[in-house]
Amino acid sequence: MKNACVLLAMLAIALAGCSRDAGKQVGQVTVGFSQVGAESEWRTANTASVKSALVAPGFDLKFSDAQQKQENQIKALRSFIAQRVDVIAFSPVVESGWEPVLREAKAAGIPVVLTDRAVKVSDASLYASLIGSDFIEEGRKAGRWLLQDSTGKPGPIRVVELQGTVGSAPAIDRMKGFHEVIDTDPRFKLVRSQSGDFTRAKGKEVMEAFLKAEGGHIDVLFAHNDDMAIGAIQAIEEAGLTPGKDIRIVSIDGVRGAFEAMKAGKLNATIECNPLFGAQLAQLIRDVHAGKPVPKRIVVEEGVFTQDQAAAALPGRKY
Ligand code: AHR
Repeated sequence: MKNACVLLAMLAIALAGCSRDAGKQVGQVTVGFSQVGAESEWRTANTASVKSALVAPGFDLKFSDAQQKQENQIKALRSFIAQRVDVIAFSPVVESGWEPVLREAKAAGIPVVLTDRAVKVSDASLYASLIGSDFIEEGRKAGRWLLQDSTGKPGPIRVVELQGTVGSAPAIDRMKGFHEVIDTDPRFKLVRSQSGDFTRAKGKEVMEAFLKAEGGHIDVLFAHNDDMAIGAIQAIEEAGLTPGKDIRIVSIDGVRGAFEAMKAGKLNATIECNPLFGAQLAQLIRDVHAGKPVPKRIVVEEGVFTQDQAAAALPGRKY
């Protein structure tokens, strides 16, 4: 009787193991991926790129959408740890507040790859690698474009800024890079700067408030992403002004919507932020899982586009 009980217990343990790995093929890497949300055209393209690379032979993807909330991401990460995935990848909504959950992943022996956005942690061993853009450089590129566009113009040049999500790496870094450049020229006066949370709706709403507060006396809009710029363009038109002329506009991402706005003369320049790193991410995850040494930081390639290039570039844009 005692032996039968032991056998039954062993069988139960074996079955539990099977059900945990149910559906998983030999050699497959199980990846838990937590995405920021679906706040922008950029994000939609990034999700499609990640899914097309990880919903593929060799991977078992567990995908979770955080709807731009850090608490949802922390829950998702904890659930990936409980499911004992092989690798966790995530694009952190904000920079701070990750140490406890990253420590839990480390204690469980699950490597973490950051995509797109950085985290602020005191211990860099809490993640294996970060793949994504150089947001400070993107901000600098926007600033350099503005300096060049303003050649020969007298000051003051009144600038408003639509920031991304408060506390997020792209909002912090783009602001830093942009100001590093324009603050060297005393003609530029930053008159308003507020978050539009990277969405069209909030970009429009905040731009409406800027226009009201400044009585329309705005020369330049710097938007941390194209979606907010597209929302703001609507607000500018509704206020009876001509976007791209009365108010010069530079934003970041390089999504199709921005190219269409440039073609229509409503947006002056977009700084590319490349979301199509799914294939590179898949290779990085394979390497991390195999215990190979990987670079701590992988920066994706990107350019700058102006109105005169929009019509020719538009058909070739992949996002
Ligand atoms: O983290 C990348 C940024 O997040 C993109 O610029 C923006 O469009 C997105 O929401």
